Amino acid sequence: MANPKKADLSLLKLDYNNLTSEALGENGLSEADLADLKDPLTLAIKELKTKRDQGLLPYLDLPNDESLVNSLKKLSQKGRKKYTDVLVLGIGGSALGTSALFTALKPLNYNALPDKKRLWPRLWVADNIDPEGFSALLDRLDPPTTLVNVISKSGSTAETMSQFMIAFDWLAKSLGKTALVDHLLVTTDPETGVLRKIVNDLNLKSLTVPPGVGGRFSVLSAVGLAPLALIGVDIEGLLAGAKSAVAAGFNSWSTNKAALFAGLNWSLASKKGRGILVFTPYADSLAKVADWFCQLWNESLGKAHKLDGSANTVSQTATKALGVTDQHSQLQTWMEGPADKTVLFLETLNFKSQKNIPKLFKNQEALAYLGGQSLGQLLSSELKGTSRALTENGRPNFTLTLPQVAAKEVGYLVQTLETATVLSGVLYGVDPLDQPGVELGKKFTYGLMGRPGFTEFLDRYNQGLSVKKKFIVS
Ligand code: PA5
Repeated sequence: MANPKKADLSLLKLDYNNLTSEALGENGLSEADLADLKDPLTLAIKELKTKRDQGLLPYLDLPNDESLVNSLKKLSQKGRKKYTDVLVLGIGGSALGTSALFTALKPLNYNALPDKKRLWPRLWVADNIDPEGFSALLDRLDPPTTLVNVISKSGSTAETMSQFMIAFDWLAKSLGKTALVDHLLVTTDPETGVLRKIVNDLNLKSLTVPPGVGGRFSVLSAVGLAPLALIGVDIEGLLAGAKSAVAAGFNSWSTNKAALFAGLNWSLASKKGRGILVFTPYADSLAKVADWFCQLWNESLGKAHKLDGSANTVSQTATKALGVTDQHSQLQTWMEGPADKTVLFLETLNFKSQKNIPKLFKNQEALAYLGGQSLGQLLSSELKGTSRALTENGRPNFTLTLPQVAAKEVGYLVQTLETATVLSGVLYGVDPLDQPGVELGKKFTYGLMGRPGFTEFLDRYNQGLSVKKKFIVS
């Protein structure tokens, strides 16, 4: 296969040697399996283009929104003087991308840094409704110096709206209803939904989630860019990287990293029974990219039905891990457990800081070899060692490498994985942009919480209870 383009390679490298039969024998993809990818991937890339031209994939246009960038730059300069803290209220696609990029692009101890070293507001992303957690978070914030950014595309997500109502009250009690307007930023649909109605009724400041951009594809819209800009992340760099990835997503299949990512995993799932994709970053800064990716992959591809209505019998579930932590927790089953996994390593070649291991205990052979080397060298050797061990055991694994964890590289990575997900939708024949499976649970919750129009679900819930009562041990 041809080499990826040079400009492309400099932001992200895909090494899939250890997925092939050359490395894995019969457990790997043969030359014929790889050649079999040509037609479906070529068709999928063509469909990507057609759908884009039809305006059905607006996530691909997010990196071109210069006017949003300009307004966010102004907002962030104002916010920098006014706020010590930015509190994001959101869940799923309205939170995970922001958390991932925050962790990737700011120092890992960012919120704990003293003001002089931090220079921008702290960022808190509240994506759970645990009463203890949310109380503890509000208790540490000060309304006069906090900006609350509530993010909900639908404007009706119970978790986010409950947080919003609590935070609204919290701001109003401290600042009064007039002044709170300067401490609330709403990101929601431009036209529809109750949150947009509240924005209009109360004249609140707002940003929009572009129509047609689903939550899990929205991190490079105002959803992620606003909070990230407010803490001084280089959003232009992010979008520049993403823009390159959008272009590369239309390359021919064999030089197209998004397409290969999709095709190789599809082939492993359908031909080799590898229905689990373990996403394993080897850097704390990339740890939350795994959370974001798991939502993207699972909510997009975990579908019962194909677009033609037939049953979807092949799929792949992403799970997250963290190297080396999970070498001491999950590696045993990756090596010897059910042969249903592909392991994806995500690595960086450069860390923002390094720690050298001092030359101590020179008489202790089992320790002395470590002295004089760095933690980065050890981490890299651990990844190489684990990859080799998996390969020798016939376990498929591949590696994505970022030269560094910086805005451009991370923008490129995120956009590539989004396109890989959409292309996978074409390969599996499912709609990657919907999530019908999450609706029923929401309806039962509405019924239990007394939302008008959902009593049917309360009744259905109670019917279920009578069965379950038989099998409870207290
Ligand atoms: O990816 C998705 O569409 C979901 O994860 C949503 O982002 C999540 O359910 C939150 O929805 P909303 O932004 O409407 O509150």
